[in-house]
Amino acid sequence: MPPKVATLSLVLRVAIILVALLHPITSLANKPLRMMSSSPSTKSKKVAVIGATGRLGRQAVLQLASRNVPVKCLVRRYPIDPSAYPSIDKGASSDQVVAYLSSLPGVEFVKGDVTDASSIASLVDGCDAVLALHGARAAGFKSLVPALNPEDDPTHAKQINYVGVRHVIDAAKKSGTCRRIVRVTGKGENPWSVISILINMLGSMAKAWNYEGEQLLRQCGDIDYTIVRPGVMGKDDIPKGKVLALVDDGRDLPVSAVTYEQIASLCVDCLDYPNAARSTLTAMNVEPGRGEETYRPLLEKVKADSRTFPESLLDEHKKAARTGAAILFGVAAVFTQIVWVVGKKIVLTIVSLGH
Ligand SMILES: NC(=O)c1ccc[n+]([C@@H]2O[C@H](COP(=O)([O-])OP(=O)(O)OC[C@H]3O[C@@H](n4cnc5c(N)ncnc54)[C@H](OP(=O)(O)O)[C@@H]3O)[C@@H](O)[C@H]2O)c1
Repeated sequence: MPPKVATLSLVLRVAIILVALLHPITSLANKPLRMMSSSPSTKSKKVAVIGATGRLGRQAVLQLASRNVPVKCLVRRYPIDPSAYPSIDKGASSDQVVAYLSSLPGVEFVKGDVTDASSIASLVDGCDAVLALHGARAAGFKSLVPALNPEDDPTHAKQINYVGVRHVIDAAKKSGTCRRIVRVTGKGENPWSVISILINMLGSMAKAWNYEGEQLLRQCGDIDYTIVRPGVMGKDDIPKGKVLALVDDGRDLPVSAVTYEQIASLCVDCLDYPNAARSTLTAMNVEPGRGEETYRPLLEKVKADSRTFPESLLDEHKKAARTGAAILFGVAAVFTQIVWVVGKKIVLTIVSLGH
């Protein structure tokens, strides 16, 4: 072999060996170390649902029951008013929803509250996965005054979206059976967006505490999580032709309307995908050609979180909400002043015309 060809062949062989040796190291370096887990697929498993009476939760229970998956629902009022007419319509009361869900096969109820650790432990006991689809109800204008809406109040978003999530994690660890928590939150990494400011201002910092709750899940090495950040839920129909889109690693997609049914199916379907464990997914609807008709082909491609998420965004969320409140009070003060001055002028004109 000529010396030039021999040298080239040697360099090539060394390069191939180096690439083979380095490849697993580099790919490992990009992925967080995590416990390997058995997947809590929906096949022959029991699933706990928190927020089952909510608009999203009731759809999830319907879908689980239709797949013959036994479901344990946490409900705050149980037994319910026996005269409640069974319904899952948009405006149905919690009692009506429970009355409807109780007619489904394999659905049982546990009375409790996400702020009460012992009731969550009873709920999760014997389950393989939890769908944590609960959320704090908007507190309204009293949310602007911390004294009227203290953080230790059981209806405050801190207790429901953060302390409640901690209770779910603790219960899952204690159960010895529950391997996956699916939590629905929302886009929450931009404290200064107008939507974040409004939701935080009027919803006892719901966005902020949802993000802190997400962090509890990401920091928990023992239990797998799938965090779902959906678009705006509420419309029964989405614009014609739109298809489903899903991105992982908590990346952004343009905000769009999504239906409760779609997000419920994502929460249920993801249990069948071990690769969706330890992932933060954003779910929206997009133009045809840029998504899929069902979540399954999208879920196949999902990967565990690999980027470093901000440790906490609480201070920034609070700063943004306080700024928003100050602007709101400022605008209200200017408006009141204008109404006062203009009103006074009108009254004076009317009085002078009378003379
Ligand atoms: N709607 C959207 O566009 C949107 C977008 C992104 C994320 N999200 C999030 O998605 C989740 C579900 O939304 P949704 O529209 O279905 O909400 P929803 O209809 O208001 O339902 C909320 C559910 O949470 C339960 N809940 C509230 N406090 C609780 C507590 N202390 N203990 C146990 N359960 C409690 C409620 O139970 P009761 O019936 O007993 O009150 C109800 O079942 C929420 O976390 C929300 O923040 C919503």
